[in-house]
Amino acid sequence: MKVHVRVPASSANLGPGFDSLGLALALYNEVTAEEAEGVRVRIEGDGAGRLAVNERNVVARGVSAAYEAAGRRFPGCALTCVNRIPLSRGLGSSAAAWVGGLVAGNSLLGSPLDRSTLLTLAARAEGHPDNVAAALLGGLTVSAGGSDGAIAVVLPVPSNLHWVTLIPEITSATSEARAVLPSSVPREDAVFNVQRVALLLAALQAGRLDVLGTALDDRLHQPYRVRLFPWLPSVADAARKAGALGCVLSGAGPALLAVVAGGERESSAVARAMEEALARAGIAGAAKALAVDREGAVSAKLGAPS
Ligand code: HSE
Repeated sequence: MKVHVRVPASSANLGPGFDSLGLALALYNEVTAEEAEGVRVRIEGDGAGRLAVNERNVVARGVSAAYEAAGRRFPGCALTCVNRIPLSRGLGSSAAAWVGGLVAGNSLLGSPLDRSTLLTLAARAEGHPDNVAAALLGGLTVSAGGSDGAIAVVLPVPSNLHWVTLIPEITSATSEARAVLPSSVPREDAVFNVQRVALLLAALQAGRLDVLGTALDDRLHQPYRVRLFPWLPSVADAARKAGALGCVLSGAGPALLAVVAGGERESSAVARAMEEALARAGIAGAAKALAVDREGAVSAKLGAPS
């Protein structure tokens, strides 16, 4: 049996919601998987020629983790991965790989694992639940690590908001972008973020776009990550001056995510302003609006009668 899985990109944190909020975006990786003796991986797109094509491949490790969790022997698998989510940019490529592998493995076994088990396995593998929750469930996700595993709730996203991503032509390792964070923070900074993440979720649900600018502010990670991305304040400022309600680091960066009310014209103006501001800092990058993915990881059996 062969299965096909489609997994969306994701933007984590959304400013103040460090390691909790995630937004699934309509940019997809695809995995085709079938059981085999040993592991073989073919990669098309981002990472081809660079990513491991043996049992160390993250998608293959995800498939194997699903077998292990289901108490089944993993014989191996033949995978084809079509990667459209750029690697090491802050758009959840690693989360998509874990989720793609886990969902593919689970489908090959006839789906013995439920979504909450898959979420817990993916969050454990990734080290934080925000990207994997969005990649698995789609939409705007609020996630937390609990003693019994990860938990996530999907919330509706206002359809009049547009999400512009700026993808710089530089990469950054999440581990390095986490290593610059302090191990403790002043209480006023913790309170600042609690207020903003609560305000952000309330504003999105109540349609209070007027407070989004304040609600997207953060003191837990971006001020420290400016060391790695010194152009962040000027590009975010350019996005706001071009009409964005707010502009934040996407996950651990270097990609940025701007929130825009309005239509295509407003989004394009923000996208161009972000590209130009990044270019002024000597870095090339491409910005475009991405729709919100509302389905998360979707699997289908190939060759099965429909
Ligand atoms: N919440 C994580 C971080 C996301 O900011 O480090 C990493 O993709």
